[in-house]
Amino acid sequence: MTATKGLEGIVAAQSSISSIIDGVLTYRGINIDELAEKASFEEVAYLLWYGKLPNRKELADLQQKLDQYAAIPNEVIETIKLYPKNTNSMAALRSAVSSLALYDPISGDMSLEANQLKAIKLQAQLPTIVAAFARIREGQEPIAPKKGVSIAHNFLYMLTGEEPDSVAVKALDQALVLHADHELNASTFAARVTVATLSDIYSGVTSAIGALKGPLHGGANEAVMVMLEEIGSKENVTAYIDNALANKVKIMGFGHRVYKNGDPRAKHLQKMSLELGKLTGNLELYEMSTQIEELVTGRKGLKPNVDFYSASVYTALKIPRDLFTPIFAVSRVSGWTAHILEQYENNRLIRPRAEYVGPTQAAYIPVDER
Ligand code: ACO
Repeated sequence: MTATKGLEGIVAAQSSISSIIDGVLTYRGINIDELAEKASFEEVAYLLWYGKLPNRKELADLQQKLDQYAAIPNEVIETIKLYPKNTNSMAALRSAVSSLALYDPISGDMSLEANQLKAIKLQAQLPTIVAAFARIREGQEPIAPKKGVSIAHNFLYMLTGEEPDSVAVKALDQALVLHADHELNASTFAARVTVATLSDIYSGVTSAIGALKGPLHGGANEAVMVMLEEIGSKENVTAYIDNALANKVKIMGFGHRVYKNGDPRAKHLQKMSLELGKLTGNLELYEMSTQIEELVTGRKGLKPNVDFYSASVYTALKIPRDLFTPIFAVSRVSGWTAHILEQYENNRLIRPRAEYVGPTQAAYIPVDER
């Protein structure tokens, strides 16, 4: 038995949710470029869960359920108030999502209907948790979710208490569409491994949040912003990147395990970053980002991934830097739950083998003789 490092190139599951074929990403066979331009995030979530785009009635029913379940239990709000104010935002999200299960009377119901409903509840409640956490740590009261508005609109509203402008809502909605699913990425795999033991959907999503937190996965969007802040201005870009590459420091937001010729989602975020820069009259971050791209692509042949331009987009939307990765989770929970439902549908325990490289036939030495 020989191990494949990082499971690179290993096909570990069959799925009909999203595909990456020859560098083209589709959700249920629909090209991401088309969805990014035309679909709302709610339509995309429905598409991922049910395998087809919703008609008007189906979309209205989904909106009604999202409205119904967006509020989080008071007990969860009270426990968020007990978290240390400077706690990591993904650690807070992981804990809060795990605790949702305690207050959901159907958390242990493994029927398809119950699991489909729990997927909607999780989708409805993650944005509320992130916004509530962001306010509570600032000593503010959380804002109750609004009814009849999109998840993007509601999230921005719950964060600030103000009605967001339509450009901001559209930009966040498109970012949510672009992050919704991505085949067997690390967090989705973590979710599938967890529920393949027939554990519940909350356990699967909690595992996934833990996997997304790392800087090699979802944590990269925040790390991109840290880098942009460290660079500070356009004049410093070349020296910073040259120095980083010379010292073999990874440039966050570049490279991808699957896409070697560029991530198809990046161009949409780049366009959005430019539009928002023009709108806010501040193109500094956008221009720094394009300069970095030119250098990193020119010198290393590495292309930006979905995280790179997300950083300048979210900053233009005035979202605090440490909420970038939780927003990724707000979107990806649609994909995680779709994969969890698919795993349950045709389940087999996921239990690979390890190539043993330790000593063999070692003797047991009694404790007093060691
Ligand atoms: N900056 C500089 N060099 C890089 C980068 C980077 N961002 N990414 C890859 N490389 C180099 C590696 O150092 C390695 O070079 P070497 O062969 O000389 O040692 C080579 O390219 C291959 O890279 P690996 O890390 O082996 O590629 P892998 O497929 O394991 O990693 C990953 C993919 C983790 C995304 C990597 O490119 C990376 O760390 N990027 C930065 C973090 C990031 O942006 N993560 C977000 C990914 S997208 C997502 O999760 C939403």
